[in-house]
Amino acid sequence: MPQVQIVHYKVLVTGANGQLGRALVSEFSKAYEVVGITRKDADITDKTEISSVINNHRPRYVLHTAAFTNVDRCEIEPEKAALVNSVGTENVDLACKSVNAKLVYFSTDYVFDGTKSRAYLETDRTNPINVYGRSKLDGESKCLSSWADTIIIRIGWIYSETGSNFLKKILAIAKRKVETAKATGEKPILKVVTDQIGTPTCAKDIAIQTKRLIEKNVSGIYHVASSPEVSRFEFAREVLATMLPEVIVEPCGSDEHPAKAKRPSRSSLSCEKLELENLSMMRPWKESLDEFLKLHGKQLLNEI
Ligand SMILES: NC(=O)c1ccc[n+]([C@@H]2O[C@H](COP(=O)([O-])OP(=O)(O)OC[C@H]3O[C@@H](n4cnc5c(N)ncnc54)[C@H](OP(=O)(O)O)[C@@H]3O)[C@@H](O)[C@H]2O)c1
Repeated sequence: MPQVQIVHYKVLVTGANGQLGRALVSEFSKAYEVVGITRKDADITDKTEISSVINNHRPRYVLHTAAFTNVDRCEIEPEKAALVNSVGTENVDLACKSVNAKLVYFSTDYVFDGTKSRAYLETDRTNPINVYGRSKLDGESKCLSSWADTIIIRIGWIYSETGSNFLKKILAIAKRKVETAKATGEKPILKVVTDQIGTPTCAKDIAIQTKRLIEKNVSGIYHVASSPEVSRFEFAREVLATMLPEVIVEPCGSDEHPAKAKRPSRSSLSCEKLELENLSMMRPWKESLDEFLKLHGKQLLNEI
């Protein structure tokens, strides 16, 4: 009887210590040989270094998550944003080309200006309004102009149990408010903006969807997000209703929380393309959030 040979492709993940990088390493390890690399293994802004690491491993797929992701710091350090997010991505892209690896580049909802009255499609016009968004869009252009075998996955408002994200920030502030309220006898009140609308998505769900896109051998741009869209206020209210129900969440505008970088007011991503191509693995955000809080909520509250 002829032997069936199972091919275990090698997958290399950049930014393996980041929130999405960790989720990808965990998900892909179930079916692939995975190499997660961090800045210590290779700085993506060093062309020789990243090229040598990718050449040594010769992966079939490179999942490129490494990026300068602090949106406000990017305004202060625009040269660094361009170097890491654009030049760094070009370096990864060229290294992929040299070993014939398929590149998956993770981009952002912040490539849009947020003025549309509905969720963004892949075909919508990009027009970033901050340094981070421009640098990530430049990264997209670098991938699209040089190496054909690329998937660009645009995501937004990621949360996970690790790293820095809106969900963890809200939990940390709310926990402090509760502690202060206990000491003062006042009610714990937290004001959250209603004029930023997006599509919060669990890093694990993005990893599962990425696996599906790779296995279906697609190329080009895909939006990957949970649905439906929601304001930061509504999302925070849902998180705290489960975790700290004594906190009163009140609506406010972005003018009450001034930040260095402008944020698009409505950067929701539509997954219509995924659905039309019968590729979608995405869940409603409430379902993912419930599961996430059941698994990690208590531990997060203890840690922050
Ligand atoms: N977070 C979001 O809501 C969001 C939304 C849309 C798109 N994205 C995109 O999704 C991807 C993953 O985001 P994330 O939230 O997982 O980011 P993250 O947690 O900030 O992780 C990014 C990782 O990149 C590494 N890195 C930064 N500069 C590097 C360099 N020069 N060389 C090598 N590694 C470097 C960082 O290492 P150090 O810790 O050593 O700096 C970090 O581990 C990014 O491309 C981001 O632009 C994120």
